[in-house]
Amino acid sequence: MDKSSEEYISKKRAIDLWDSGKIDNFEVGTVKGLMDIHYALFHDLEGFDAGKIRKVNISKGNFRFANSMYLEPALDAIERMPENNFDQIIEKYVEMNVAHPFIEGNGRATRIWLDLILKKNLDKCIDWQRVDKVDYLEFMKISPVRSKYIKMLLKEALTEKISDREVFMKGLDQSYIYEGLDDFKAEEIDSKLDK
Ligand SMILES: Nc1ncnc2c1ncn2[C@@H]1O[C@H](COP(=O)(O)OP(=O)(O)OP(=O)(O)O)[C@@H](O)[C@H]1O
Ligand SMILES: [Mg+2]
Repeated sequence: MDKSSEEYISKKRAIDLWDSGKIDNFEVGTVKGLMDIHYALFHDLEGFDAGKIRKVNISKGNFRFANSMYLEPALDAIERMPENNFDQIIEKYVEMNVAHPFIEGNGRATRIWLDLILKKNLDKCIDWQRVDKVDYLEFMKISPVRSKYIKMLLKEALTEKISDREVFMKGLDQSYIYEGLDDFKAEEIDSKLDK
């Protein structure tokens, strides 16, 4: 286990946020909330510019995320999107993905942001271990033009186990698997002994 790796350091920080209860102190559904989550996970790690809105343009596959010139007004508008039901919340998540405010680590930070919105408004969260990687990435890819597939996929994985540490830990591992990072499991990091 490489304790200086991006995966180890940021996963351990996520576990600490959960175990300390600090995860519930983030602002929910706001740009500040997302920036704070991103900073908490990735500060001092190279290539993330943690907690800061990007000033460059980025793309994935054929898709170019929001132009950095328009990012701040876009983020203000996304922040104001409603969160009254599941579909509205996923539409907000899809728009935040289109914005992709950070240089790196958008997926992992924004999935935690999404779960906090679901928790607050629906008393539910996503059980990410039930969301297959290939399906997830495929449906996120088409989500800017058609969001119904990612909505269907995530709806099937909704759970009421919002306080279940195992659901959180396995979900964290799955979130890293989407990014191709799978060197060790969250359960192997003992956040109490391993300070
Ligand atoms: N072609 C695409 N078009 C739109 N969104 C995409 C595309 N490919 C991936 N995504 C979304 O972008 C996220 C990846 O963004 P980024 O690499 O900044 O975050 P990450 O945390 O490093 O990666 P990951 O989300 O894979 O863990 C994916 O999780 C997915 O939600
Ligand atoms: Mg990435």
